[in-house]
Amino acid sequence: MKTIIEPFKIKSVEPIRFTTKEERKEILKNAGYNPFLIHADDVLIDLLTDSGTSAMSSEQWSGIMKGDESYAGAKSFYRFESAVKKITGDKFIIPTHQGRAAEKILFSVIGGKGKYFAANTFFDTTRANIEFTGAEAFDLLNEIGKHPEIRAPFKGDMDVDALESFIKKYGRENIPLVVLTVTNNSGGGQPVSMKNIREVSAICKKNNIPLFLDACRFAENAYFIKLREEGYQNKSVLEICQEMFSYADGSTMSAKKDALVNIGGWLSLNDEELAMKCRNLLIVTEGFVTYGGLAGRDLEAIAQGLEEVVDEHYLQYRIRSIEYLGEKLISNGIPIIEPPGGHAIYIDAKRFAPHIPVDQFPGQSVTCAIYEEGGIRACEIGSVMFGKYDKNGKLIPAMMELVRLAIPRRVYTQSHIDYVAEVIIEVFKNRDKLKGFEIVYEAPMLRHFTAKFREI
Ligand code: F0G
Repeated sequence: MKTIIEPFKIKSVEPIRFTTKEERKEILKNAGYNPFLIHADDVLIDLLTDSGTSAMSSEQWSGIMKGDESYAGAKSFYRFESAVKKITGDKFIIPTHQGRAAEKILFSVIGGKGKYFAANTFFDTTRANIEFTGAEAFDLLNEIGKHPEIRAPFKGDMDVDALESFIKKYGRENIPLVVLTVTNNSGGGQPVSMKNIREVSAICKKNNIPLFLDACRFAENAYFIKLREEGYQNKSVLEICQEMFSYADGSTMSAKKDALVNIGGWLSLNDEELAMKCRNLLIVTEGFVTYGGLAGRDLEAIAQGLEEVVDEHYLQYRIRSIEYLGEKLISNGIPIIEPPGGHAIYIDAKRFAPHIPVDQFPGQSVTCAIYEEGGIRACEIGSVMFGKYDKNGKLIPAMMELVRLAIPRRVYTQSHIDYVAEVIIEVFKNRDKLKGFEIVYEAPMLRHFTAKFREI
């Protein structure tokens, strides 16, 4: 059969609320043209993020009932620990309430002024947690990953020559860690090849620098390896995941993505001394070592989610549904990062609205137009999120101006996705009318969450 169906049936539904275009104009204005500030109830289809928005399975919900809420040594912790160990192979598994909590703990211990970190691309919270300690973070993405229009199988790969030069320049003793973000969220949800993980790991080992995976979407990455990299077609996704983690010394994880839950995360590692330091900080900031800011029931749901996410029927459906949306947009001439990534479609706003200069935030303009047209909430990943200012207050733009349509896991059906495509095609037809924006309020860090805008 050609049709790849949703590999589940629906037992419980949640109504979504319809609004009119007139209402949405008003809602946008009141939210300062920032979709993060719109009430979720005013959103018809929410593609703001794939984080914490998964639909849990009946097995996960029954795990919620079984959760052991003992303060110390809960049964649910040991189930969680063994599920994480099965995938990562790491010795020390530290639960956290989400990904950035793991980052905060790790980088507080190993960061600081005079330290330098490199990744294929750091996600914004990871970069923020590094910079918050006074250290510096560098993105060393492969050249091909910087070109939205070029189709290549592994656009999330790190530039290994750049990594060698980076180590020479800053000195191995000043580099506490290298990170590979799998898949590379900020670069379009593009996968990292096993070859690249192996090469980066070898360079790190040679220089005695630990390699960590930012593992949020490890299963999607593994499935791309199975589909695209020679030698992996006959391996199971679980085996591929285990090989990916085997080259790393640890991982930070937001379970809100590929553990198919609404909250949770972990820090996994092999270095005992570092693990003890991180655990001590965990106790101060998150909670005791066997719950780390989560309830026992959350740990149960994560353990179950980790079993479900490596199911190949699930991953085939997951990767295909993103590709399906991508194909519809491409066939209507809409510029997106090609090929489609694992969890989202990224519209290239520079080509979508070329008449809007980057300092007027074309991505923000397209994002607002998509909401106004069809009640769909997307997310700007461009100069609003990553832009900085030079000494004279002039914008240093982001590498790309993107609009992300992140698809929650197991939440929307094919007809929802057809509707999303229809709305975006309509906005594209009228793209000449899109206007630029200026910022009227911004916070000093992670400004995209709370900034307010005015139409120019
Ligand atoms: N690393 C990556 C690659 C991420 O995508 C995220 C979150 C985090 C770390 C932080 O995890 O949210 O649990 O603290 N990404 C979400 C997103 C927010 O929308 O892409 P967290």
